[in-house]
Amino acid sequence: MGKYDELFARVKAKAKDVDKTIFDLIPEKEPRALYEASRHYPLAGGKRVRPFVVLRAAEAVGGDPRKALYPAAAVEFIHNYSLVHDDIMDMDELRRGRPTVHKLWGVNMAILAGDLLFSKAFEAIARADVSPEKKAKILDVLVRTSNMLCEGQALDIEFETRKEVTVEEYLKMISGKTGALFQGSAEIGAIVGTDNGEYIKALAKWGMNVGIAFQIWDDVLDLIADEEKLGKPVGSDIRKGKKTLIVGHFFQNASEEDKAEFLKVFGKYAGDAKGDALIHDEQVKGEVAKAIELLKKYGSIDYAAQYAKNLVEEANEALKVLPESEARKDLELLAEFLVEREF
Ligand code: IPE
Ligand code: IPE
Ligand code: MG
Ligand code: MG
Ligand code: MG
Repeated sequence: MGKYDELFARVKAKAKDVDKTIFDLIPEKEPRALYEASRHYPLAGGKRVRPFVVLRAAEAVGGDPRKALYPAAAVEFIHNYSLVHDDIMDMDELRRGRPTVHKLWGVNMAILAGDLLFSKAFEAIARADVSPEKKAKILDVLVRTSNMLCEGQALDIEFETRKEVTVEEYLKMISGKTGALFQGSAEIGAIVGTDNGEYIKALAKWGMNVGIAFQIWDDVLDLIADEEKLGKPVGSDIRKGKKTLIVGHFFQNASEEDKAEFLKVFGKYAGDAKGDALIHDEQVKGEVAKAIELLKKYGSIDYAAQYAKNLVEEANEALKVLPESEARKDLELLAEFLVEREF
């Protein structure tokens, strides 16, 4: 039996409850295209790690996870909205192993589906079975989270056309686009479960560090994963010139000659209207493979992977203020999995 088998079983079981809540809020209804487009990613699956974090965080602080069901659905709604819009911006054609929403329904309907999913997050919070005081606190966190997510995504897009980005700038960008929602998930779960400020803070800190590590690992996977397993395009970040920790490390360490070689491909297809179809172009494939070889030559991928693993260790350290429990153990284990995963 694998190290994570029991954890996966629990993630799956909880996802079932959360999914019921999600699909109650986005039923099949008119306008058909809007609701079909909105249901597309939730139906396709996904790891459902953020709602799991909400539920387990509530339990880890001694609360009732059933009260966290709607808040768990809310963070998955925010996540899915961000994916729909992210795929438009990144012009990617594959998500969760299926064609992206804008590929199937067009950009206009995809924008609206994203908007609807965003709105559904707040509908979920409105329905949550918690006191008005807690609801206000949860809303506060969710609003901060969504603001940060947009800010992070804006930086991500701005950085595409920037020549250089410092490590601090990169970390700020991913703290926003990905860290914030992990932080929000853990924090919201904690708020549902307790009024103990120390516990809530510890989970918020854990979530931010895990989220940052998660994104760094996502950037690693974009280079080395198996596309079939990952369910999204590989090499996409290179074609678009996405600034990652990996690329930052490379620019700091590579010879002028190798940098020049890398720059022949890196960002070459940013803003290309053909988007992800380029993946299947043999010439582009070869170019991207060469760029990845260069990153490997300087140990840049390993550097980022280790950076992510260190962050997870730091994150789990923060959980030590909580009493030991199966829920806390699951959060720790989940964090470890997130920087080892292949999908
Ligand atoms: C993808 O998130 C978006 C990032 C923040 C990198 P996930 O890897 O959690 O996507 P799903 O939900 O499993 O599809
Ligand atoms: C996006 O980062 C994070 C959000 C969706 C907010 P990426 O653009 O790297 O995510 P993927 O790789 O498309 O899932
Ligand atoms: Mg993307
Ligand atoms: Mg993106
Ligand atoms: Mg990515």
